[in-house]
Amino acid sequence: MSIKIAFEEPTSANVLCLGVYEENKLPEPTQKWDKTLKSLLSESLKKSRFKGKLNQSLSVFSPEGTQFILVGLGKSSEQNEMQSIKIGGSIAGALTASPSGEGAVEIYNLKGCKDEELVANLAYGALLKSWRFEKYFTTKTPDELYNVKKITFMTPDLAATEKCFKPLAAIAEGVFFTRTVVSEPGNVIIPETLAKAAETLKKDGVKIDVLSTKEMQKLGMDALLGVAQGSVHEPKFVVMQWEGGAKNEAPIAFVGKGVTFDSGGISIKPSANMEEMKYDMAGAGVVIGLMKALASRKAKANVVGVVGLVENMPSGSAQRPGDVVKSMSGQTIEVINTDAEGRLVLADALWYTQERFKPKFMVDLATLTGAMVICLGSERAGLFSSDEKLSKNLLAAGEKVGELLWEFPMDEAYDKDINSDIADVRNTSTGRGGGSITAAKFLQRFTNKFPWAHLDIAGVAWASKDLSFCAKGATAFGVRLLDRLVADNYEK
Ligand code: BES
Ligand code: MN
Ligand code: ZN
Repeated sequence: MSIKIAFEEPTSANVLCLGVYEENKLPEPTQKWDKTLKSLLSESLKKSRFKGKLNQSLSVFSPEGTQFILVGLGKSSEQNEMQSIKIGGSIAGALTASPSGEGAVEIYNLKGCKDEELVANLAYGALLKSWRFEKYFTTKTPDELYNVKKITFMTPDLAATEKCFKPLAAIAEGVFFTRTVVSEPGNVIIPETLAKAAETLKKDGVKIDVLSTKEMQKLGMDALLGVAQGSVHEPKFVVMQWEGGAKNEAPIAFVGKGVTFDSGGISIKPSANMEEMKYDMAGAGVVIGLMKALASRKAKANVVGVVGLVENMPSGSAQRPGDVVKSMSGQTIEVINTDAEGRLVLADALWYTQERFKPKFMVDLATLTGAMVICLGSERAGLFSSDEKLSKNLLAAGEKVGELLWEFPMDEAYDKDINSDIADVRNTSTGRGGGSITAAKFLQRFTNKFPWAHLDIAGVAWASKDLSFCAKGATAFGVRLLDRLVADNYEK
């Protein structure tokens, strides 16, 4: 569920958020109010511990009963796009102090920002931060749930602000789609229901094909099918096409791992934290949400999204460690560990994508390895790439939207550890170290030398604590990053 956002020219309000820079310097609209209120705001600031830092807030009531919520802006010299979004996020938190769940914001005229961009980004940050997944609570009172319903942002230029906000609202729709499907439990999101959710993008103008088991068998996708064979739920393979660019121009392609639940299969996982493996479809969730974002804002680019959807379960029909399967590429794979299943799904998804679409490049997203979480924690996602320009563009897009990447080496030396004694390749490395890299080297064997990058989002797909513009839970990490990659490099 998300809140309502509105824009208005400056007027009065019962609950009003105002900005304060670090060291309690007041930007212009706040100064104006301080004068009207005969220094009530500046006097209150002097008596409090509030220092104008990001995420600080202070409520002050005027004698007439208006609630002023002072919101920290951080340093006046450090105002930029990301800071505006973060301030917006803090507003979504500060406004929980509004009894009606509604409030207005009068923050503009900040150093280094254009008003319309600043206000649109504040609204965007508030929107992203306010989203909650509360549908399964049946006994909590409204007070125990997130109570903010509507925020009105005052702006000196209504039309320009609304124009700036429109594409941001579209991206937020994509983010919310992803967060929703990633939050849903494994009994609700199975391959069939996730494919159905993807099909709702038809109304946004996205072309969708859903391949059945039979069609996958015909294509020779036995790597993907082998993962699915222990589950009672049929696998699905979803191909999405957004054609917003020039006719006949080669598309760019995004590929997602969609394991709707990863029990580990016969190489079963320990029970501690196994419930987290409902988000093992986050790569697919991000790719579908990204397609929704691009279509909603009518991106001027040809983009393909491909997701392989399976459930990894142990059963009498499940794949065994030691099994050998033939992938769509023709390469045979020895399945050493049935818990290294994501790479088996992606092997066929990547091969299919390059063969059918001959894309300019492919970027895959996957909650691929636990080693990634050990390595980078939840601050950055791992980047593995065969193409320098692509990795440069990905790193830059990540910096701009605050979804940070870190690039790993891809030396050939890592590749030899995945040679099998009885097949072309094995799905886990013979050595113990570098598990995220050897997983990436495995994927690379299925890219047919097309420019490619892999994002291991195992550590960032789910947040165990609130972030500056995302409540804890599913983050949709990657939607905003890849949307920006497309906008900055492929829409000119
Ligand atoms: N889905 C997991 C990786 C994962 C772990 C994602 C923690 C998010 C949080 C993946 O399928 C997996 O099980 N990988 C194994 C690979 C190993 C068997 C080579 C792992 O990392 O332990
Ligand atoms: Mn696994
Ligand atoms: Zn997995």
